[in-house]
This record gives sequence, structure tokens and C-alpha cells, in this order.
Amino acid sequence: MNSFGYRFKFTSFGESHGKAIGCVLDGVPAGIKIDENFIQEQMNKRKPGKNKYATSRKEDDNIEILSGTFEGFSTGTPISIIIYNTNQKSRDYTNVKDLFRPGHADFTYFHKYGIRDYKGGGRSSARETATRVAAGAIAQLMLKEIGISIQSGIYEINGIKAKELDFDYSLNSEIFALDKNIEEEQKQAILGAKVKHNSVGGVALINVKNCPVGLGEPIYFKLDAQIANAMMSINAVKAIEIGDGIKSSSLNAYENNDQINSKGFKSNSSGGILGGISNADDINIKVYFKATPSIFIKQDTVDIYNNEVNCELKGRHDPCVAIRGSVVAHAMMALVLADMILLNMSSKIENIKKIYK
Ligand SMILES: Cc1cc2nc3c(=O)[nH]c(=O)nc-3n(C[C@H](O)[C@H](O)[C@H](O)COP(=O)(O)O)c2cc1C
Repeated sequence: MNSFGYRFKFTSFGESHGKAIGCVLDGVPAGIKIDENFIQEQMNKRKPGKNKYATSRKEDDNIEILSGTFEGFSTGTPISIIIYNTNQKSRDYTNVKDLFRPGHADFTYFHKYGIRDYKGGGRSSARETATRVAAGAIAQLMLKEIGISIQSGIYEINGIKAKELDFDYSLNSEIFALDKNIEEEQKQAILGAKVKHNSVGGVALINVKNCPVGLGEPIYFKLDAQIANAMMSINAVKAIEIGDGIKSSSLNAYENNDQINSKGFKSNSSGGILGGISNADDINIKVYFKATPSIFIKQDTVDIYNNEVNCELKGRHDPCVAIRGSVVAHAMMALVLADMILLNMSSKIENIKKIYK
């Protein structure tokens, strides 16, 4: 199952150490200006090797659009994008060829398929998430045309939480920190773990502005359900919170309900979604990433013959995947919203009449 979405549908392909990764987007409306610089900017935000807070694996992550555009605009036909892998170091992985790295998908892929691409995790590697960022950038180009904008940043690292949120500041922060006063503490937590050959987890915050009322398809394609599905499909994501999420289960209704006046909702505990449908308020979600599983500390594991062995990893890894992961979460949010916009167009006869009558 390598496709995501219903109308704005995205299929990815490729492995960490294969020749290339890529995606095909089907259902993209014709006439969208495909700004390749914007797509590349998004790719550059996720790409590895930029600073000491990310893996030193260097990938250019240059995108090449193979189809679906003409003179800079989408044509309504499948848009395919390829990204060549330029820095595969297979030798880094020969020591783990027969063993299951703790926290990775090695164990489950091997037992499910009976064969495993051990080079960098193969298909289970987060290398695949680069394709989502490319697809998500195209979704963002569509959303921009109708005034919907998405912002994201790092809320929490290793339990150290932002107190103030500044999405503009996060754009220029090496760790996409939302709070400049907490950023240094968060950076030190990452570097502290890195020196000890360990890693830390973190939380990304995604905010959507100008989302119209009506996105989301109850009962089984609710907006919050699809957002959760999208976010949980990202490597290392272990939880997702919509609006006040966890807190709302300990509040009473009077505290939790968003009261309404003639201008709209007076608060936003719901995170902009009621009954699985957007209510035109900001959509706010938190995405929880676990600590990067590859660490350079000796760990217990078994090999493919079930012998108990030590796992001693070498190579390169991200000391905190939440940082680059936040860019992927941003892209997935765009893909969900683009899909929901197209689905919602047929929700009322009025909409259909506007086109056909
Ligand atoms: C952008 C991104 C980069 C990642 N890079 C690494 C990495 O360098 N090393 C690593 O061990 N895990 C990395 N991961 C996480 C693993 O891919 C993931 O934890 C693993 O495949 C197991 O899947 P699960 O944690 O979703 O169960 C990364 C995740 C993301 C989102």
C-alpha cells in the first residue's frame, strides 16, 4: 500500500540505497502554476547534511519533473517526480546485514516478506519521505491558489517545550524552533545526546490558516482521521494530537467546549475540526516523533537465525528526526487538505450547478 489520498492521489516508490526515489501524483487539477523553485525550497528544508543537528548523509535532493506539466502549469495528467540517490554508502550497513536493529523495521519486514533490503533500511527508510515533501509542495501550490496556508515548526525536543510560538522565526532556525528563547536549550539537548552516541525525540506543531468550513468526509474519511492516518504513516511518529487533544480528556465540557458568537468560535480546543469536518478556525496539530532508533551504543538483539548478538552500529544518523520530520508532517498536511478540497467539491448540488448549469 504505497498510495495516499482519494482524489488528489500520491504514490511513492524507491528505496534508501536504490538508484532513485520518486512519486506519481494523480488527480492534480490542470492550470496550477508549478513553481519548481518552491518545490526545491521545500526539499532543501528536509534534506540531510545541512548542519550538526542532522545526519551528515549528503543528498542534493534535486527534483526532476518527468510528466504532467506544460510550460510551467499542471495539465491534469499524472505528475511524476524523480529524485536520484546520490550518496548511497552501502558499506556502512554490511555489519547489520543479518541482524535486526532495535527500534527499526528490520524485524517486521523480514518476518513479513522473508527478504530484506538491509541497505539503510530499504523501503522502510525515511529516505522515502523526500518524495512526500515533493508531492506535498505541489499540494501546497494548489492550496495557495485558494488562500489556504500551512506553517510548521518544532514545539518540543526531549521534553523541552516552546512557551511562545513564532512560525516566522522557525523558518530561519537550524532546528525550526518555534521559540527563540528555548531554542538554545533544545539544541543543547540534541547535541548532548549526540556526544553520548544517543538521540532524542521531539514534537512538531502544524498550523493551518484560512481553511474553509466543510473539509472532511464523515464517517470513515473524517478530516481528523485522515490527518492522523497521514501523520502516523511518517517514520518514527508515535502519536498525534488534534487541538487540545490529550488535555481535553481531563477538562470538563464547560472548559473544553469552544463557545460561538456571531464572529465565530471564541476559543479553539477542537483544533479547527468538529465531527470530522473543518470549522473554518485554525487547524492545530502536534506530531510526536520518537528518538532516532540508530544510536552508536551497544544494544542487545538477535540475528535472522535467532542467535543473540550485540548490535553495534556505525554510519550516519539524525540525532533528532523530529526536525526534518516536521517538514514531512507539513507536506502530509498539505496532501490531506488538497484531497479534502477536491472531495468536498461534490458535497452540495449548488457546487455542481456552478460548473455544469
Ligand atoms: C525525516 C526522517 C529521517 C529519519 N532518519 C533516521 C536516521 O537517520 N536513522 C534512524 O535510525 N532513523 C531515522 N528515522 C526514523 C526511522 O525511519 C524509523 O524510526 C524506523 O523506520 C522505524 O519505524 P517506526 O519508528 O515508524 O516504527 C527518520 C525518520 C524521519 C521522519
